[in-house]
Amino acid sequence: MKSPIPDYLQSVLEKARPIEEGAPAGYIDVLARADTSRLAVALAMVDGNIYSAGDDELEFSMQSISKAFVYAIAIEDAGLKAVLDKIGMEPSGDAFNRLSLQKDSNRPFNPLINAGAITAHSLVVAPDATVEQRTERILNALSRLAERELHIDEEVFEAEWKDANRNMGIGYMLKAAGIITCNPAEAVRGYIRQCSINVTVKDLAMMASVLCNSGVHPISGERIMPAESARQVLSVMATCGMYDGSGEWLATVGFSAKSGVSGAIMGALPGQVGIAAFSPKLDERGNSLRSVDICKQLSADMGLHLM
Ligand code: DON
Repeated sequence: MKSPIPDYLQSVLEKARPIEEGAPAGYIDVLARADTSRLAVALAMVDGNIYSAGDDELEFSMQSISKAFVYAIAIEDAGLKAVLDKIGMEPSGDAFNRLSLQKDSNRPFNPLINAGAITAHSLVVAPDATVEQRTERILNALSRLAERELHIDEEVFEAEWKDANRNMGIGYMLKAAGIITCNPAEAVRGYIRQCSINVTVKDLAMMASVLCNSGVHPISGERIMPAESARQVLSVMATCGMYDGSGEWLATVGFSAKSGVSGAIMGALPGQVGIAAFSPKLDERGNSLRSVDICKQLSADMGLHLM
């Protein structure tokens, strides 16, 4: 029997399509030129079924969504204790690119703001690893999650790298505070490369479904990460994934999520479903307006609110 889910997902997209507010990310020129009519959604169930609608083959850069997975890789490579010694778990209440550290510990507030993400990146492989070694490690790990070989969008990387002053400022702040020990410019270059990895909504939903399935890949049955890492990632996504909009997000949409400035949102409902939505126009916090609407619809229609 034909599943009704793709038709339902198409109707969700048609309800989100009339939203015209917002603008694509202006500070990365390739993203600023994005086709703002693009719109896509995908669901990946923990039983391995994937459903999608709209521009579901379109590739876009992961941007901040990469932070969730690189946090898991840092935990695997450095150990949870070493990661927690360097990166906190509290929402910052500030914009994602704010130069901020926790008062007493000097740690970045959490791994999903840039300061925490650059720190997590610096812990991948080993503190003295090269950008190339870290990039290869991250690409391999993310490709295993997506079950296909992922690539860096070099145009997006160059566009952000040529004007990375704020992230450089964060990198040097972290070095001065003794949080990262490697060359700050190299940590920032590697971090921007990880943000430039291309995916589709189907990839993202599948990657999220591994988190929802306690670290076991729903399709291959392979354990990709320890259950504790998946739980840690989902927990920080719940409290910090939508930046200074995280509290409102959890109250209204009700599942763990992470957004990226290319216009994607990845959502995760433990034990049930990985979710991905994409459309380039963002609100002032850097969250895609249509993707937020899609997640709200899915949550209301399918009863996905955790509380
Ligand atoms: O660090 C940056 O500015 C970007 N490459 C990633 C930011 C991002 O996706 C924030 N998301 N909402």
